[in-house]
Amino acid sequence: MPAPDKVTNITSLQTENRVFKPSKEFSSRAHVKSLAHYRKLYNESIKSPDKFWGKQAREELVWFKPWKKVLQWKAPFAKWFVGGQLNVSYNCLDRHLNTPTANKAALIWEGEPAGAGIPGEERTLTYKQLHHEVCKFANVLKRNGLKKGDRVIIYMPMVPEAAIAMLACTRIGVIHSVVFGGFSAQSVADRIFDCQARLVITTDGGYRRGAVVPLKKNVDEALTIKDAQGNSLTKTIEKVIVHRRANNDVRIEEGRDVWWHREMEQVDANCPAEKMDSEAPLFILYTSGSTGKPKGILHTTGGYLLGAKLTTKYIFDLQETDVYWCTADIGWVTGHSYVVYGPLANGATSFMYEGAPNHPEPDRFWRLIAKYGITVLYTAPTAIRAFMKWGVEWPRKHDLTSLRLLGSVGEPINPEAWIWYHEVVGGKRCPIVDTWWQTETGSIMISPLPGATPTKPGTATLPFFGIVPEIVDDQGKTLPKNSGGKLVIRKPWPSMLRGIWGDMQRYKDTYWSEVPGSYFTGDGCRTDKDGYFWIVGRIDDVLNVAGHRIGTAEVESALVSNQKVAEAAVVGRPDDLKGQALVAFVTVKTGVVADQNLRDELRNHVGKEIGPVAKPDDIRFAEALPKTRSGKIMRRLLKQIASGAEIKGDTTTLEDLTVLTKLGSSEE
Ligand code: WT7
Repeated sequence: MPAPDKVTNITSLQTENRVFKPSKEFSSRAHVKSLAHYRKLYNESIKSPDKFWGKQAREELVWFKPWKKVLQWKAPFAKWFVGGQLNVSYNCLDRHLNTPTANKAALIWEGEPAGAGIPGEERTLTYKQLHHEVCKFANVLKRNGLKKGDRVIIYMPMVPEAAIAMLACTRIGVIHSVVFGGFSAQSVADRIFDCQARLVITTDGGYRRGAVVPLKKNVDEALTIKDAQGNSLTKTIEKVIVHRRANNDVRIEEGRDVWWHREMEQVDANCPAEKMDSEAPLFILYTSGSTGKPKGILHTTGGYLLGAKLTTKYIFDLQETDVYWCTADIGWVTGHSYVVYGPLANGATSFMYEGAPNHPEPDRFWRLIAKYGITVLYTAPTAIRAFMKWGVEWPRKHDLTSLRLLGSVGEPINPEAWIWYHEVVGGKRCPIVDTWWQTETGSIMISPLPGATPTKPGTATLPFFGIVPEIVDDQGKTLPKNSGGKLVIRKPWPSMLRGIWGDMQRYKDTYWSEVPGSYFTGDGCRTDKDGYFWIVGRIDDVLNVAGHRIGTAEVESALVSNQKVAEAAVVGRPDDLKGQALVAFVTVKTGVVADQNLRDELRNHVGKEIGPVAKPDDIRFAEALPKTRSGKIMRRLLKQIASGAEIKGDTTTLEDLTVLTKLGSSEE
């Protein structure tokens, strides 16, 4: 792993002193009503973690068999609720069936297609109906030969069937790996290969800004992809189940591809939930790291579900009548924990929307909030900045008074966006929870509790129960309040990742070697005098582009896989809308003309290799890349060049100083 920048380089734009206290009205109805109440619960959770987590697991989850030990910790390997047995789909569905929740809406969904003023397609599934569908689809999976422990790829748009597929997997102990619908055929193939999946669940197509994204066609292509030696990457795939959504033309390969609706006709709705070990693998979700290959983050059953359930309940302060909307796609961990598992485990109503925020017009979100009476909205700063750009007239057209709480996730929220969110969307009455966490952490780690924690724009504030974040220096020493350094987590927590699929060495190297014995987040962070955590951003070679995590090495290896490219280095530069933008410095092979056509070709090439989210915003051709004498690309320097800054710092180890002058501009 490349050495992260020294933590002494971490500066913060923290100049924000405004404090927003929760209103008395909000606090009086909240689960946790004051900062003192939060501190008391937090201290208990830290002083006696076994007692705290044992109590929560007993009260919040239904177990088929009780555990023998709350935590078995042999760093860096944790086992939670050892010996216990439960089932995630049972806890999200069956447990609500003999209660008044049975006939409450579990999922409310609206599809994208809509003309101005014309309502989109709508569906509501009560807990009873969702249970019925999940049981049937679990039987479909069995009918297609799947057994406990098998891996399945889910590659679908935001339709209820995506949640049904996830829950059906968990019902029979099949491990799902959801691949974001915006990812390419190549990404699908790589993930199939890495986890040796037996089956793909997909959709003919999904809607995005009025166009149909041909998901099944991408799967067809993925299933033909070979590695450099000519071996198929996807030979483990036996079946593809296709849900019909957009009615676009698809090819059905006899013997391999089956239609979802046809299969559902062949099964009954009787499917008992498998008794799963607390530590049985639940899902794998791929995320970018600082090397070229995405990591398959592994989450397991009991601890993950407890983390998802508890954080949803306390951080979104769920109440019986909430209509809760997390706008994340289920292809990301946020969609796993806060569209599907967290809300359903709590018996809440989770709203799902298929499309883009500006289709057909930039008020689609506000229209949906007014129409469904959304009470809690959880979205990303990059979306908020886009709404700001589109103008206040769009939210102002709609009645947003149903909202009572707002959430933010994915990247640091700049104070301007925070204030806009607070005033324009929240009407100054809704607390904002800025929630810090990661794919690896499974659930929210640092966040205000909305009825308890005074907030300041730009900080995720204080740790959730049981979480021990600290700021450390380069030697791993804990720093006092009011300082900056690396963010680590000192103690294991129930929803932590259990490893990287197929690569435990990488798990140890990536997360547990930087600061031995502690979990290294990869983030730089400051604390203020109140002990609030201000996340500064990644300190490894990972970028956060519009809330998407993108490894620079991944984009580099996509670029050099084009035969015209000799070498590539990718860095981030600040971007008003996306937080960070991708800048690629590229050298081409002899005889290749480096012009605008090649730029377009390379951007499309990256789109094809990884997905449109990873396309570089800017490609700069160079004769050579600046390197140290030991041959390391000087990224710090490239970052400065990319952001248009003057070249600072020591460049005396540069191999060839002349290249510097030639990297300055993207114009020929
Ligand atoms: C990285 C994790 C799990 C949330 C979705 C992204 C950044 C996330 C915040 C926040 C500042 C944040 C961090 C983190 N991040 N939330 N509230 N404030 N930064 O999950 O793709 O695994 O990315 O997103 O840099 O390490 P992810």
